[in-house]
Amino acid sequence: MKIQKVTKENHAKVYALLRRAFPGSEYEAGLVQKLHENGKPVHEWVCIHTNKVIAYIAFSNAFNGNEVCGLHLAPMAVSPEFQKQGVGSELLRFALRQEPVKSQPLFVLGEPGYYRRFGFEPCPQPICPFDKNNAHFLSLGNAATAPFTVGYEPEFKTAAKPAAKPAEPRSRGKKRR
Ligand SMILES: CC(C)(COP(=O)(O)OP(=O)(O)OC[C@H]1O[C@@H](n2cnc3c(N)ncnc32)[C@H](O)[C@@H]1OP(=O)(O)O)[C@@H](O)C(=O)NCCC(=O)NCCS
Repeated sequence: MKIQKVTKENHAKVYALLRRAFPGSEYEAGLVQKLHENGKPVHEWVCIHTNKVIAYIAFSNAFNGNEVCGLHLAPMAVSPEFQKQGVGSELLRFALRQEPVKSQPLFVLGEPGYYRRFGFEPCPQPICPFDKNNAHFLSLGNAATAPFTVGYEPEFKTAAKPAAKPAEPRSRGKKRR
């Protein structure tokens, strides 16, 4: 198994992996695809095993207002047939040693029991807009004490939006112009 940076050549394999790891959800694959298409800064790596992408990890900018204040870890995924074999841990530990990941505050919205193993801790500040009470929001290297709501790239909100509905037929009484 080798870990390498994501290139354009393996984008399609990354989206396919995300669909396998999050069955029934288009959100994660759609999010990463939108970040790529919109040219957003993403620090991302894959695990390759017998020429297949078996794991993926991404970090994108976190914001305090308009200022970048760290990186969000999202999404992270291991192909179902390789889960619980240490692949995710190896990839995450690798990523945490890389620049610029290692020198910035990191945030993750995830299972506390999993991310605490890597040094992430529950964080009272900043507030995560997607998590009531910050119950699943953790950080690493974050010294923020002043209250603020952390921002995400706009793709995090739009990735799951369903395609626009066709316009409702107008009510009968109204004339078309
Ligand atoms: C979560 C995920 C990335 C972990 O990767 P992995 O390669 O399966 O994990 P590892 O083998 O490195 O670590 C496994 C350990 O973490 C634990 N673990 C795995 N998922 C966990 C979770 N959601 N909560 C708590 N512990 C978890 C396992 O019980 C195991 O514990 P053990 O070492 O004591 O046996 C992977 O299971 C996955 O892709 N899941 C589906 C997608 C997902 O939920 N992604 C994360 C949210 S963005």
